[in-house]
Amino acid sequence: MTQYERIYLRDYRPFDYLIPNTDLWIDFFDDHTIVRSRLNIIKKEGIKGHPPLVLNGEELKTLKIFINGRAAGVDEYAYEENILKIFPNVDSFTLETVCEIHPETNTALDGIYKSDGFFCSQCEAEGFRKITWFPDRPDVLSEFTCTVSGDVKKYPVLLSNGNSVSKGGLSDGRHFCKWHDPFPKPCYLFAVVAGDLYCVEDKYKTMSGREVTLRIFTEPENSRKCFHAMESLKKAMKWDEDVFSREYDLDIYMIVAVRAFNMGAMENKGLNIFNSTYVLADEKTGTDDDFLNIESVVSHEYFHNWTGNRITLANWFQLSLKEGLTVFRDQLFSSEIGAGSVSRIKDVRVLKARQFPEDAGPFAHPVRPSSYIEMNNFYTATVYEKGAEIVRMLYNWLGREDFLKGMDVYFLNFDSMAVNCEELVEALGKGSGRDLWQFMRWYEQSGTPFLKFKFKYDKEQKKIFVKIQQETPETPGQVEKTALPIPVKTAFFDKTGKHIEFEYNGKSGKEQVVLLDENEKEFVFNNINEEPVPSVLRGFSAPVRFDSGLGIEPDIFLMSHDTDPYNKWDSSRRVFFETIKELYICFKTDAEPEIRKEIYKGYSFIIENAYDDRALAAEILSLPTESEIIQELMNSKIKVDPVAVFKAREFFVKFIAEKFAGEFLKLFNENHCEKYVYSKEDIARRSIKNISLYYLSNLKDSAFVYDVYSKSDNMTDTIAALKSIVKFEDENSEKALNCFYSEWKQDLVVMDKWFAVQAGSSGIKTFENVKSLMNDRLFSITNPNKVRSLIGVYANNALRFHRSDGKGYEFLSDNIIKLSTLNPQIAARLVSYLSNWKGFEEVFGKMMKENLEKIH
Ligand code: BES
Ligand code: ZN
Repeated sequence: MTQYERIYLRDYRPFDYLIPNTDLWIDFFDDHTIVRSRLNIIKKEGIKGHPPLVLNGEELKTLKIFINGRAAGVDEYAYEENILKIFPNVDSFTLETVCEIHPETNTALDGIYKSDGFFCSQCEAEGFRKITWFPDRPDVLSEFTCTVSGDVKKYPVLLSNGNSVSKGGLSDGRHFCKWHDPFPKPCYLFAVVAGDLYCVEDKYKTMSGREVTLRIFTEPENSRKCFHAMESLKKAMKWDEDVFSREYDLDIYMIVAVRAFNMGAMENKGLNIFNSTYVLADEKTGTDDDFLNIESVVSHEYFHNWTGNRITLANWFQLSLKEGLTVFRDQLFSSEIGAGSVSRIKDVRVLKARQFPEDAGPFAHPVRPSSYIEMNNFYTATVYEKGAEIVRMLYNWLGREDFLKGMDVYFLNFDSMAVNCEELVEALGKGSGRDLWQFMRWYEQSGTPFLKFKFKYDKEQKKIFVKIQQETPETPGQVEKTALPIPVKTAFFDKTGKHIEFEYNGKSGKEQVVLLDENEKEFVFNNINEEPVPSVLRGFSAPVRFDSGLGIEPDIFLMSHDTDPYNKWDSSRRVFFETIKELYICFKTDAEPEIRKEIYKGYSFIIENAYDDRALAAEILSLPTESEIIQELMNSKIKVDPVAVFKAREFFVKFIAEKFAGEFLKLFNENHCEKYVYSKEDIARRSIKNISLYYLSNLKDSAFVYDVYSKSDNMTDTIAALKSIVKFEDENSEKALNCFYSEWKQDLVVMDKWFAVQAGSSGIKTFENVKSLMNDRLFSITNPNKVRSLIGVYANNALRFHRSDGKGYEFLSDNIIKLSTLNPQIAARLVSYLSNWKGFEEVFGKMMKENLEKIH
């Protein structure tokens, strides 16, 4: 078995050499590609002697190595596994190499590869080494020039980073284009594209008055679907100027949409490459969620231009410095230009569904890991989502103004440098004049802290004493835990649901933030005239779990009275989870399932007042998925039987559907939009309408849903109807699926949804359907979007994946094994569906583990 090398943060050493300039010539041919490179190398000041120059390379056929213009002698270099060492005897020299590579057979989709006949690249994290010999590490910044050549007919468009400086014809029907990027960058931000692409163009005037050309490249037939991405880009550019005072720095910004892409999108300097899912959408093909996702991904990659590109990483351990910060920036953007309160709920929902399980499972790791074997495995919910929560805590703790002052210090002090997470916290501290060092602990400690509250009301003194304890459970490799600084945003309500103005630390207000920075602390709040209902961790003020110790009564109260939309939603979640746990136990013990009256009251308030805030009501009514429920059961140390989870959830859904059938029908009928408009109001209407349809579909027959399906004139409603109809597995569901197929079979972005809806169906035939869809003409195992929408969605379909005959697991592990040679990154991500095997009942857990062993 191969022995893998583990890389430790503590072993980090800066690079010995500078590479001020990198010149590349990339010549594309049908059956091979030639990459010539000329590096200008200078030993750093203070380095003694002539240490070897260490370059990374993988799958390169090296044709030439030249030092200072002549062929390198045998004693001037040496190969080790994937390393080329140069032994210089001077302080500065040029190194030229010529390599042959094979993008046309690259199915791993990193380095340079082909997607639908055109060439494109993906270098982060360590893909540049598959293009040419280079120090493939984020702290070596170089000014890149790249000359691309190819057949003029097949590849009329030749792109790389920065500005186009010259172009022209060559012999044999070839042509070239030379690009120069004036901003020094690490090689992971390099990009190259060659193909027959159409471009949509727009202009943007920056705050300093410079004109920037914006181009989005796609296949010609998709050009009409770029409008929303372009609008999102312009909004992001404006917002970053208005809020963070950052403007774009090159004269051109290009986005290329590709169908075969491992991730969502990539922020290459001046030449972003995007999964076409996050570019292409119009009124007919895009759902509301697609539009929202495009907005957030486009802005995310744009925001990286400052947080990631201009200021980059000292090493990959610092990944959250760019990703956590940039996710925070895109979240803030989305909530400010779009959906407001529900956008926070959606973000937390993702965090809880993905990061909490990660932090509670075998792969728990700190936001800044201390070692890795394969960097690609560390693009995780912890680095991204928990990393963003750390920045958000700092933002809330400092207040917007001081936070932005700190960000100015960060941009000013560290521009064009490769830095660590400390530098961000240091700059925020300097800019605001506050000491933030204890917040650094959040980067080092893995596991989700758990808070326990104890409230003691003293009527005489009109005080409430709140004792809070924190405890972080042990995680793999990290047994000892220290207290973290946890901001707890708190409010109190009186019996009528009104805010209590209370006093804390000499300050009066409706809502106050206290900092729990020890394992246990007591806080005293004054001027409280009656025993109040507390609302804690408002807005999810820290990424923690908690128990209020008060039972669900106050939560039912808060469902109707809390003024913080997030907490309103979160209390509904706790009410739901408590109920579902009781139901689950009933189903496991063959007891009569029952739902308490009070619960019904909480939901009735939401439904009756849905018009006050349709989006929020829809968010509350869209119940946790089975996977989310499974996670919750595992947190309560209940071994999971996925079938009983499904039954419990279905029982709850039917109960609510029956109780409120009339209300749902009314909401469904009254919230139709005349024509599709992407606006906050209409999104909210469609969301309440479609959640009502979901409940109704549990009462009505498939003819009703088919009628809805056939009348839909937009993708949001179409997909909602399709999701509601598939489980019937009758002639109406067949008709709908066939109709969708024939209407959209030409559009592969849309067809991903067709696969996903079927893979996610609770119908009894799902497993058989998934297997036969693997042979569909439109399915392709080498396309990650198809793999995610069929295999990924199926593996997340708890009811149909966890089969007592183990066939679901076998199907997954067979495909992972197949993919592991084709595309290891995609294969690795699919393994996570088996990772929490310990939390399932023995029958399931044992088989899951066996399949992990088989893959291993
Ligand atoms: N830099 C990443 C893309 C990336 C991820 C490259 C992993 C190589 C390996 C990019 O900025 C990113 O974070 N993209 C996200 C979407 C974003 C909106 C969070 C993605 O691709 O999922
Ligand atoms: Zn990113």
